[in-house]
Amino acid sequence: MYTCGIDIGSVSTEVVILENNNGEGNGKIVSYIISPTGANSKTAAENALQEACNSSGLARESIGPIVATGYGRINVPFADKNITEISCHARGAISIFPDTRTVIDIGGQDSKVIKLEDGNPVDFLMNDKCAAGTGRFLEVMARALEIDLESFADIFLSTDGHVDISSTCTVFAESEIVSLIGQGVEKNRIIRGLIYSIVSKMTSMVERIGLEEPVCMTGGVAKNLGVVHALEEKLKVKIKIPDEPQITGALGAAYLAQKI
Ligand SMILES: Nc1ncnc2c1ncn2[C@@H]1O[C@H](COP(=O)(O)OP(=O)(O)OP(=O)(O)O)[C@@H](O)[C@H]1O
Ligand SMILES: [Mg+2]
Repeated sequence: MYTCGIDIGSVSTEVVILENNNGEGNGKIVSYIISPTGANSKTAAENALQEACNSSGLARESIGPIVATGYGRINVPFADKNITEISCHARGAISIFPDTRTVIDIGGQDSKVIKLEDGNPVDFLMNDKCAAGTGRFLEVMARALEIDLESFADIFLSTDGHVDISSTCTVFAESEIVSLIGQGVEKNRIIRGLIYSIVSKMTSMVERIGLEEPVCMTGGVAKNLGVVHALEEKLKVKIKIPDEPQITGALGAAYLAQKI
């Protein structure tokens, strides 16, 4: 009756429970959960599934096939199958925007660009070697600046100009902004500089793979509208964002579970 997708990311774990329509079009989302992964990804997966069952009033036994994705996917003992994030983000994106040709996913520890043809992933590029260019980079900098990530969009839109952040490493970039604050540089201009720094890494990945419209952005950083606005400006395209971009991988996993 129901399928489940679970995405165990470095920052957050998502569970989506879907009405199983045996792959006939898009089934309805019955419930979803976003929770921190924490130190134990196996416990995070178990707790998130239980929470999703509780919030929808479903018994655990009524959930059929379960697909796990994300970096912790191999550590989910109750999953029937694990599938790469590339396939799951692609499937999730096309369930929301069926004509998507490019998916940009920026999560906590990696970023990727996926190229789609007729709804299927045909190529991708991934940066999982370095925190710069990821959501974690922004989290570290927001903490150093004592500014909420949620306010980055307003700051981006209401500030003119930016300071270039020259360090390409998260640790050095943090020292750089601490010293910029010490020099009295306006925090808002530093934030714009940080946004442009992450966006320039993403833009070069997109250009290497070749930009095709429509473009959809997934992952937690798609909630950072400062990053989204800057990406739109640099790529010169309008980017489509799902209502809840952070669950896209789990949603795709739940759809792929319908095929099991
Ligand atoms: N409300 C929000 N506003 C701005 N940014 C947010 C918000 N919520 C999450 N983020 C950003 O999203 C990031 C986490 O994204 P996500 O949950 O997709 O990562 P993940 O899937 O756990 O990581 P990965 O896929 O790299 O293993 C955080 O590091 C943060 O920068
Ligand atoms: Mg992720």
